[in-house]
Amino acid sequence: MKIIHSPRQMQAIIKRLKADKQTVGFVPTMGALHKGHLSLIRRSSRDNDITVVSIFINPAQFGPKEDFKRYPRPINKDTSLCKKEGVDFIFYPAVSSMYPADFKTYVDVEELGNLLCGKSRPGHFRGVATVVTKLFNIVSPDSAYFGRKDAQQAAIIKRMVNDLNVPVKVKVMPTVREKDGLALSSRNLYLGRKERKDALVLPESLRLVKKMLKSGMRNSNMIITAIKRLINSKKSARIDYIAIVDPVNLKSVKNVSAGSLVAVAVWIGKTRLIDNLCLNY
Ligand code: PAJ
Repeated sequence: MKIIHSPRQMQAIIKRLKADKQTVGFVPTMGALHKGHLSLIRRSSRDNDITVVSIFINPAQFGPKEDFKRYPRPINKDTSLCKKEGVDFIFYPAVSSMYPADFKTYVDVEELGNLLCGKSRPGHFRGVATVVTKLFNIVSPDSAYFGRKDAQQAAIIKRMVNDLNVPVKVKVMPTVREKDGLALSSRNLYLGRKERKDALVLPESLRLVKKMLKSGMRNSNMIITAIKRLINSKKSARIDYIAIVDPVNLKSVKNVSAGSLVAVAVWIGKTRLIDNLCLNY
């Protein structure tokens, strides 16, 4: 396994591999790798000759009051995890090589980036779409792997790839969870013991949706009201949004149907957590 810092060097390596007819799978991450990331890496290794993992905490997707500075950076642990998984290359650039002082160009997936998480995180998805475009241009993958846990992010990347004719297949993989149901996230590390317990209200609220659907309920407003009541019963929980949307255009739907996306974002103390359920009943 090689660790590459320079975008140019990464591009040169990929060019040689492509000339050799090797297929390239790509897993973009911000590090602090957990089993969710590893599931993407495994899928990429299974499907491709070469797997590239990027580790880059992208300043462009953090708001001024967000956790860019304190985002965990366990690079040695991440490196050994990648090695164990048989990753071929880690692309680990410095901020200055991704965003030199004269950087000016951004990719903005209009509308989709302003809904749901975009409402409380203005500019976040512009930062995501920009860095993923840059990473795609540097790694030129045949396939890139994303987690369904960040369903809005996946929808935005798919839109961007379609709109800009980017020759990359976007694969969206299921959410990996702890045994007790909490979706794995690098931000779970911020939770205190009591908060960790309260955070279970996220998966619990999704289980409640399944139960309501089973009993025949289809009205989005009634489902959302029930989720709100449940979440508000936890002391450290504060709802950012609860939404039931179409998974492609992210617009609210009045009635739940097969394929609808139930998305929740909840502050647990000072940590904002998200989770979702993609319905197919
Ligand atoms: P990061 O939060 O590190 O996540 C990297 C990838 O892992 C994303 O595709 C995310 O959806 C996926 N992932 C996270 N938790 C998961 C879980 N529990 N199960 C399955 N997949 C999971 O998302 C980002 O980084 C950044 O926005 C990035 C795309 C790298 C651009 O900077």
